[in-house]
Amino acid sequence: MRQVYLDNAATALPKAPGVGAAMADYVETVGCSIGRGGYRLACDAAGGVLAVREKLCALVNGPAPRNVCFTPGATYGLNFLLHGLLRPGDRVLTSPMEHNAVLRPLEQLRARGAAVEYLPCTERGELVLDGLEERLAGNVRAVVLTHASNVSGTLFPIERVGALCRARGIFFLVDAAQTLGTEPVDMAAMGIDGLAFPGHKGLLGPQGIGGLVVTDALAAALEPLVSGGTGSLSESLSMPPFLPDRLEAGTLNLPGIFGLGAALDYLAEQGEALRAREKKLSRHLWYRMKELEEDGLRVLGTDDPHGRTGVVSVDFLRADNGEMAFRLEQEYGVLTRVGLHCAPLAHRALGTFPRGAVRFSVGAFTTFADIDYAAGAVEAMLAGA
Ligand SMILES: Cc1ncc(COP(=O)(O)O)c(C=O)c1O
Repeated sequence: MRQVYLDNAATALPKAPGVGAAMADYVETVGCSIGRGGYRLACDAAGGVLAVREKLCALVNGPAPRNVCFTPGATYGLNFLLHGLLRPGDRVLTSPMEHNAVLRPLEQLRARGAAVEYLPCTERGELVLDGLEERLAGNVRAVVLTHASNVSGTLFPIERVGALCRARGIFFLVDAAQTLGTEPVDMAAMGIDGLAFPGHKGLLGPQGIGGLVVTDALAAALEPLVSGGTGSLSESLSMPPFLPDRLEAGTLNLPGIFGLGAALDYLAEQGEALRAREKKLSRHLWYRMKELEEDGLRVLGTDDPHGRTGVVSVDFLRADNGEMAFRLEQEYGVLTRVGLHCAPLAHRALGTFPRGAVRFSVGAFTTFADIDYAAGAVEAMLAGA
């Protein structure tokens, strides 16, 4: 049976060409750590790591390559930001569309005395900006938002919120898990102080590597969540004050970093053409699913096709979503993700809690034929075939 992978919002499959080879090459022909030894092999490897920081910094228009810190993924980056910054009594604003990578740390912080407030969203998962300025007026320490929901695919107006935060000296933290690599991200223009991202989604790299980019002002306010060896200032019992060491305790995931570097090279080679093609694929998927609404499903998220990513979640109105996802795989070989997608409040906002939804998500290697095939499968199931 044909297999069609439409779960790229979980992780890109396949990874970019060259990723596996770069990782294997590092393990098999280099293999040393960096920042610990002064020998040539380690210095060359350190140069390779710096080159990846430089590429990431350029991609997000970050402050400087040293402000790019490697983490195991977006979850760790978000925890570094939230636990590193927020103290009892601090006020933080967020949205119901967040992933548990934001919600769970915030709930821990609430239990320790932080005030966590949710901004309103429409039933299509759009952020309501009315009243935001009033909310920002009263002593807010940070706003943390996803750039795009992993459930509805709706993009948030990051630039507008960032401008409001910057004007008031409020730290703006962004979860770019669903957008980096597929949507433009510009920290300076969007007023972002802290950006967390995984390497394995839109960047087409391997799992287990991601990053955090912070402004100097935010870095100065962050308490390192993890402390340990950095290979620098070893005489001190405190974490070094400078980046990236301050937020990078322990041995780095070097095979992951080199794999991510290969993925970034591939993205740079493909340039805007790849992004433009993914946009067309995303719209095609959305239109195909919208056409099926009258046959018994509801497409979640905004109806503005330009305000969406490549995520299209649907709620089957006359069938169980779990069963439909199971049949999609068993009978048609279409791989989706069903359930609550680690975002329970998003499903509440969208009216699909607790039953969840079936999520289709395109990636760099999806074809228009894949989407037509999946839409045909959904159509056949809706018709009772
Ligand atoms: C919006 C969002 N934030 C955070 C994450 C967590 O990313 P990771 O598992 O790579 O840490 C995900 C992954 O599904 C996500 O979709």
